[in-house]
Parts: sequence; C-alpha cells; structure tokens
Amino acid sequence: MTAATPHRILLVGGGGREHALAWKLAAEPGIEALLALPGSDGIATVPGVTCLPGDPLDPEAVMAAAQAGRADLVVVGPEAPLAAGIADTLEDAGIPVFGPVAAAARIETSKAFCHEVAEAAGVRMARAAAFSALAPALVFARDLATRGEGVVVKADGLAAGKGVSVCDDAADAEEALGVLFAALPAGVEPAGPVVVVEERLRGPEASLIVLADGVDALALPAARDHKRIGDGDTGSNTGGMGAYSPVPDLSDELAAHLVATVHRPVVAELARRGVPFRGALYAGLMLTADGPALLEFNARFGDPETQAILPRLAIPLGPLLLAAARGRLAEAAAEAGITGSLLPADPGAAVAVVLAAAGYPGTIRRGDAIDGLADAAAGGALVFHAGTARAADGRWMTAGGRVLAVVGKGPDLPAARAAAERAAGEVRWTGMQRRHDIAAVLPAREVLPAHSARPTPATFPGPGGLP
Ligand code: AMP
Ligand code: GLY
Repeated sequence: MTAATPHRILLVGGGGREHALAWKLAAEPGIEALLALPGSDGIATVPGVTCLPGDPLDPEAVMAAAQAGRADLVVVGPEAPLAAGIADTLEDAGIPVFGPVAAAARIETSKAFCHEVAEAAGVRMARAAAFSALAPALVFARDLATRGEGVVVKADGLAAGKGVSVCDDAADAEEALGVLFAALPAGVEPAGPVVVVEERLRGPEASLIVLADGVDALALPAARDHKRIGDGDTGSNTGGMGAYSPVPDLSDELAAHLVATVHRPVVAELARRGVPFRGALYAGLMLTADGPALLEFNARFGDPETQAILPRLAIPLGPLLLAAARGRLAEAAAEAGITGSLLPADPGAAVAVVLAAAGYPGTIRRGDAIDGLADAAAGGALVFHAGTARAADGRWMTAGGRVLAVVGKGPDLPAARAAAERAAGEVRWTGMQRRHDIAAVLPAREVLPAHSARPTPATFPGPGGLP
C-alpha cells in the first residue's frame, strides 16, 4: 500500500508562499483539483488551479468552500487564518487540515507562550522574561544591557514582522519599550503579557521547518532568509527579501540534531498539554558560538523560504501533508522509504530573490506596470507572485509590498544565484526594490559543535508568573 494521496486540495492564502505550494502540489500525481481561497491572479496561472472568492479569516466560509469543493485536504498557508481558528473548525467537521489548531498556533502568535513551552521542553532560547507592565520591563532590560551584547524587545502578539526591536543599549531598549506600552489603550490593565525582553544573541540565522503530525516530525531542506531591505543586511526589517537553500553551515547532521532537540520536544510538550501540533513548525534559529539557539517558532511555512525550499524537495508533498493532518507521518515516511528525520532533497541549490514595490516596507505604491516576466521565466527560472494583479488588458501590475520572488536553480549555490540574478535582472517596474546580495556571502561550512548547546537558563516565568 502506498501513502494516501489527496485528490482535491483546498489551499488557503494568496501570497508567494502559496504560489509555490500550488506550483508544487498541482503537478503531483493523483491531484484532480486544486482550489485556492482566495488565491491570486498569479496563482490562477498555475495549470489546474481554480481560485475561489472568500475570506480566509472566516472559518465558516473556508469550511463551506472545502465542503462545496469536496476537498479531502485543506492546506493553510498564512498564520492569521490559523489564529482565527480555521483548523479547529475544519477538524470539528472531520475535514483533514494541514495547519495547527489555534491553541497550538499560539507558539507563533504569543512570544511569551513560545518561551514558556520551549523552556518546559528543554529547548535553548535567549534569556528572557515577559511583562505586562512597563516598570519591571525597564528594570530587566537595563540589567540585561549592563551584562550582555544588547537587548531585544518584542511585542507579544502577531505584529507582521514589525514587533521586534534589536537594541544596542539600555537607552534604545527603553525607547522601544516606551513605544510598545504607549500604544496600549489608556487605563486598561493588560490581560496577559505585552512584551518579551530578551538578551541579544549573535550569529548567522537559519530556518528549519518540519512537517509535524502531533507526534512525529520530518524536516524540509534548511533555508536562510535575508530580512533587511538593503544589501549587506542594512536598513529596515522586512518580511524577507530573499532566501536560499541549502544552508552550507547547517549540515544534515545538525538538522537531524535540531529536529531531535528542538522540534520534537516542543511537539511532545504541546501534545502533553492537549494541543497536538499538526502542520508546519518553523524554527527560526541563530547559530551562535555556543551552539544553536531558537529565536522563534512560526506555525506555518516560511515566506520567502518556501519558494527556495520546495523546488529542492525530491518527493511529492501532498501525501505528506495529508499524513501529517491525519497523524500518520511515520507510516507515510516508512512507505516512502524515508529513514531518519530529513525529507529527501535535490542535491542542487535554489536561490529566491524578492522584488518589492516602491516604498516597501513602509507605505507602498501599487499599480505600477511590470515588464519582463516572460523573459525572466524563459531561462528556466521560477517566478512566484506575491503581490501582483492582472489588468483587463493582460498586463501584470504591482499590488502589494513584496511583489514577486524569482527563483534560480543550479548544481550549487553560486550557480543558482547566477540563475536567479539573471532572471531577476529581466524584470522591471518604476520604483522596484531588490537586493543584489542574496546568497552572495556564504558562511563557511558548519564549525559548530552540534551538541554544545547551553541549557536554557531557568529565568522564564511560567503561567501566572509575570513580573
Ligand atoms: P523574531 O520575529 O522573533 O524571529 O525576530 C525577528 C528578527 O529579529 C530575527 O530574525 C532576528 O534577526 C532578530 N532577533 C530576534 N530575537 C533576537 C535575539 N534574541 N537576538 C538577536 N536577534 C534577534
Ligand atoms: N521569512 C520569515 C517568515 O516567514 O516568518
């Protein structure tokens, strides 16, 4: 018997990550229908995909679309529908869903919850504490600033990548804390943590995403995102200006070690709390001189990492997503001949270069006509749409902050980078922004002792222990 294949998939979302998922899933054996809610004009160009109108944040609307489309699997891309309880509604209706229930998605939506679960699971994160009042947060931040490399101030909830301030000194941290607390409604006691204050860690970052089924976890190829808007990691933080895979300084051995010491213990801890995590568990890691440390979890695939990862995945994704949704990942892995915790990957490389609109990541301009798309794709590069719209005359227009991801493949990272650069160089519109250094500087091969992670200092207050 081979692992069950989904035949009719409903994909929730409409960004570049979802375009990459649609591209991968639509071409797989056994797929009869791939529906996207709401999808996008770019996703609608994938052969076999039908976009459906509807609000991805409305669980009842998504369930109705899944039922009307006779979907045997729903795959959720972004975090907001998960936080809105889409997976809860679908699970209650007996529809297999890849994406965690809201209580498990809290691992992304509350940074305080993430720290608390990681500590219970024995996973190393930065020294940190959560606060619901300004005064004790200031005391903790000043103390961290006097002894360490700096302080990071994070809004507790979802902030679309804008809630994190990496501060050089106490004065910067005080300012960041002041801004976050000043944004609270006056005279109302916060019901829970407002900020997490962390010690600043140093090192290259990497993203390691697993498919989890509540118990088991299988890792996708590792990737590295480039978050700042400017070349050389300068300027504002963004949702991601490019990504590459593989990550030379994150070996397969280290990846397997991370699945065993980071992802699996956290999946087990969530299960112990009665909230099985079924979906993509994304660990944002920093490879510090003392070993890897977890910066954050996301409850979904990364964007733009997915655009660089899926072109390297050497196995159909649909059966794995269905198996994860049903709690049968181990069975599916055994049937696919997978031993260990890493999914099979193409030995080559992929580099994704993001092309962004004028003004991004601030106030963006929309409606600029895009030229050169056909030329970019002609050389074999993949072009994933994130923020585009097709005008009545067929022209593509900008319609979002991150507009496109152009992905080059090659036998190694320099070749993939050259392919991505060549293709990205064909695309233009007024005010287009991009980086020219995605995958240009590659850290040396891993030098980290994979087993040297310091134990997490026991400073993080548990539930009810907020200072
Ligand atoms: P997060 O949303 O928690 O991943 O934070 C966004 C970005 O802020 C990360 O990708 C890092 O570049 C940076 N960052 C977060 N936490 C820390 C930390 N403890 N030390 C240094 N940089 C951090
Ligand atoms: N690329 C970062 C993220 O998906 O959160």
